Amino acid sequence: MSDMATLRESGASGIQQLARLAYEQFGLDLREGKEGLISSRLGKPMRARGIESLEKYCAFVQADRSGEALTELIDALTTNHTSFFRESKHFDFLQEVAFPAWRRLRNIQIWSAACSSGEEPYSLAMTMLEHLGPEGAGAQILATDISTRVLLTAAKGLYPEDSFPKPLPGWLTKYLLRGRGSFEGWFQVKPNVRRMIQFEQVNLIRPIPTRPLFAAIFCRNVMIYFDRATQEQVVNRLAAFLEPGGYLFVGHSESLSGVRHSLEYVRPATYRKPRVGAGDKS
Ligand SMILES: C[S@@+](CC[C@H](N)C(=O)[O-])C[C@H]1O[C@@H](n2cnc3c(N)ncnc32)[C@H](O)[C@@H]1O
Repeated sequence: MSDMATLRESGASGIQQLARLAYEQFGLDLREGKEGLISSRLGKPMRARGIESLEKYCAFVQADRSGEALTELIDALTTNHTSFFRESKHFDFLQEVAFPAWRRLRNIQIWSAACSSGEEPYSLAMTMLEHLGPEGAGAQILATDISTRVLLTAAKGLYPEDSFPKPLPGWLTKYLLRGRGSFEGWFQVKPNVRRMIQFEQVNLIRPIPTRPLFAAIFCRNVMIYFDRATQEQVVNRLAAFLEPGGYLFVGHSESLSGVRHSLEYVRPATYRKPRVGAGDKS
């Protein structure tokens, strides 16, 4: 059955049910006009399971206690697209502005809060090791995503060669192991870099258990899926986990305009938690 036929079979109530489920579980905003996206993305998993209507697919997802069906749903409806050193302006900002201010800090904590398959937290770890000196080696990165599937990939730290910038910059080779034999054409991130990162499943739209405060939180290219109310909740929840003076980085195509929050605008896609009673703008 074609994807459009699957959708016709499902009817409007199936689409509404699915949209409600995605909103309640992940905060995904699948309002009017997203029928095409729903049918093209869910046709494959539904066919693979022999499920012929969205109503039945919703019932299947809700009945599955393992969480696997929910992961399948979020993976189908969102993109896990990411890359090493994506949106390089943020990495320039770290080196030019944040790192000099962090030099005296011990136990720097960073959070990559929708890390997908791990390229973002590994890029952060390698940048910190390269440019932050001994403080970089002591830094810890919490890397989270809602999808357990991408987290499994991320934890392996194993990527095809073409995932990295070409030609591979000399400095990066220090942090990568070149695959041999059946791993020819692959690189694995070295254990000392992998040890800096802790991977965990976190759903950003749910209350988040207490954590140490972070010097920076990267929450990039996920807010785009949320409506204004959810964005506001997520931004304020993340802001509560920032140290005074800590930075929140969002994707350059995501804007916090119209979202009420207590952070200061620093530059595009970069915000800072005010230091109470200090005029320090570093
Ligand atoms: C496009 S990727 C962004 C990866 C990386 N931050 C970057 O900018 O390259 C979006 C990620 O957000 C995750 N995601 C979607 N909804 C989420 C939620 N409610 N809580 C946590 N992660 C979520 C998806 O699983 C996906 O891996």
